[in-house]
Amino acid sequence: EPLTIAIDGPSGSGKSSVARAVAQRLGVGYLDTGAMYRAVTWWCLERGVDLADTAAVAEAARSLPLEQSTDPSSPAVSVGGTDVTEAIRTSEVSTAVSAVATNREVRPVLQALQRDLMARISDATGGVVAEGRDITTVVAPDARVRILLTASEEARLRRRSTELHGSADAAAVEATRDQVLRRDRQDSTVSQFEDAAEGVVLVDTSDLTLEGSIEAVLDVVAG
Ligand code: ADP
Ligand code: CDP
Repeated sequence: EPLTIAIDGPSGSGKSSVARAVAQRLGVGYLDTGAMYRAVTWWCLERGVDLADTAAVAEAARSLPLEQSTDPSSPAVSVGGTDVTEAIRTSEVSTAVSAVATNREVRPVLQALQRDLMARISDATGGVVAEGRDITTVVAPDARVRILLTASEEARLRRRSTELHGSADAAAVEATRDQVLRRDRQDSTVSQFEDAAEGVVLVDTSDLTLEGSIEAVLDVVAG
């Protein structure tokens, strides 16, 4: 039976870094579903599609010429042959992505694509680690292992601040706060992380190092 692992959690909980490392150590593929919402957003901004035009954004999602590496040691994303690995992480995209993620016509398109990709990665590598906001609940509720990764607001802000500004001093954390908390709020219609859904194991990384978080997830996988 393939080793399918679903990981959800809010921004800065450590999903991407932990999921990649776990996939690497288990020798299976990796799927970053947030990158797909970001790629649609980038594509719409690039082509001047009005994000408020829900039908046009859904059409963009359906026709998105996406190529995504599922090798956990070299995650790369390109759209129509353009490498957008960096471009999808800009604050412009981060600010706009929730408008795409809350589009009701977009979600089923990307969710179907994600199920298909998970199956294909699984066939190729014997398993998959997929991470996002709705993998444990909607995309792959039947995954072998389902984990909700959480961390306190303070820890999440500190991590994002270090990533974006190279520092977690008070000013840098303040500069990050608005962006992270606004996105949390905007995403709250698609994902709520107050409680883990039934059968989902909660892993709180607030007081763990990155290595500690990776080991905590590997422990859950080992059962
Ligand atoms: P997410 O995908 O949930 O937004 P990321 O993995 O992108 O989270 O970002 C988490 C950041 O926090 C990374 O830079 C990671 O190195 C850092 N980090 C610090 N401590 C931890 C921890 N205990 N668990 C996970 N990540 C941590
Ligand atoms: O890692 P970070 O929190 O910055 O975000 P991400 O995982 O790259 O996801 C970016 C955005 O995509 C989120 O803020 C959600 O709006 C959306 N998303 C989603 O709706 N469903 C998913 N399964 C994954 C991401």
